[in-house]
Amino acid sequence: MNVRITGTGSALPARILTNAEISQMVDTSDEWITTRTGIRERRIAAEGEYTSTLAAEAGRNALAMAGVAAEEIDLLLVSTVTPDFPFPSTACIVQDLLGATNATAFDLSAACAGFIFGLSVADKYIRSGAVKKILVIGAEVLSRTVDWRDRNTCVLFGDGAGAVVLEATDGEHELLSTHTFSKGAFWNLLYQQGSGSRNPATDRRTIDEERIYLTMEGNDVFKHAVRAMEEASTAALVANGISGTDLSFLIPHQANQRIIDATAKRLGIGPERLVINLDRYGNTSSASIPIALDEAHRNGVIKSGNLVMMVAFGAGFAYGSTLVRW
Ligand code: UT7
Repeated sequence: MNVRITGTGSALPARILTNAEISQMVDTSDEWITTRTGIRERRIAAEGEYTSTLAAEAGRNALAMAGVAAEEIDLLLVSTVTPDFPFPSTACIVQDLLGATNATAFDLSAACAGFIFGLSVADKYIRSGAVKKILVIGAEVLSRTVDWRDRNTCVLFGDGAGAVVLEATDGEHELLSTHTFSKGAFWNLLYQQGSGSRNPATDRRTIDEERIYLTMEGNDVFKHAVRAMEEASTAALVANGISGTDLSFLIPHQANQRIIDATAKRLGIGPERLVINLDRYGNTSSASIPIALDEAHRNGVIKSGNLVMMVAFGAGFAYGSTLVRW
């Protein structure tokens, strides 16, 4: 079977946290954050807002655009590194919230590359004939994983969710390729210290010794990110026999404007073909690409027939790319 993307959706918390506000909390400035990252503001989940509620809202919006009822979904994938709980999967909670009663639901963990990994899994499920309709959601509440006293990390992240509906079709194949890569040797350059089996939430020392927060060797990660984004992009271009100049749009993971610019330059892609929302939402990990895709689609930026590449890099390291004929 061939695969089509029939709906996109997103959801963002209403609360905006500006660089000026963060400057009141830690020793930083709007000038440092904008010039080093490109971020101006980010969204922060309110009390009562969770990864599952944002994911469900994004999923509902994607289903509405696709004209697909929740009960028709065969497979529900949620990519997240900030699940509601270690278990059950956030996907099962989202299944309940949406009433997607006929779906198999599970979470997928590939950090900022999670949405690309989700598309890769979904593509294979549909192409094999196993299922017909899939909801893939990337959703995160990263604001509850960072140390709000650490200027190295707290300025970077935000909360949000994005989703797509994928359907089997006898018509044109739209998901032209998916490529995924992992480099586990670098896992400890970017990770969440606490609440897993190494630093369990049940051990008082985890809290007392503050082994709980997201931690990152930013500069090292930056260098790897630029190389990996190029490697994943090149894999898609080569597999499809095209070059960067053939792309209508590049939707990169939104971690740092300088990483995006370096990637675009290496691929020969001008700023007019980049889809960026980093300035408004910061780094929302696996939600960043589907949110950007939904905005560009709804605003009419991406049009039928466009060749769109999505590329992401994140903790693991995990990285990958997808090429779509819209
Ligand atoms: O989501 C997927 C993976 N994540 C990424 O791809 C993120 C990759 N890394 C980055 O985006 C960048 O490395 C950062 C934005 C995190 C940091 O930028 P940088 O240009 O690599 O800065 P740096 O870490 O080398 O730090 C430079 C200086 C340091 O001061 P000293 O040691 O030179 O005196 C930091 O302490 O900037 C300082 N600094 C800050 N200053 C003001 C770090 N954070 C801040 C801050 N405000 N928020």
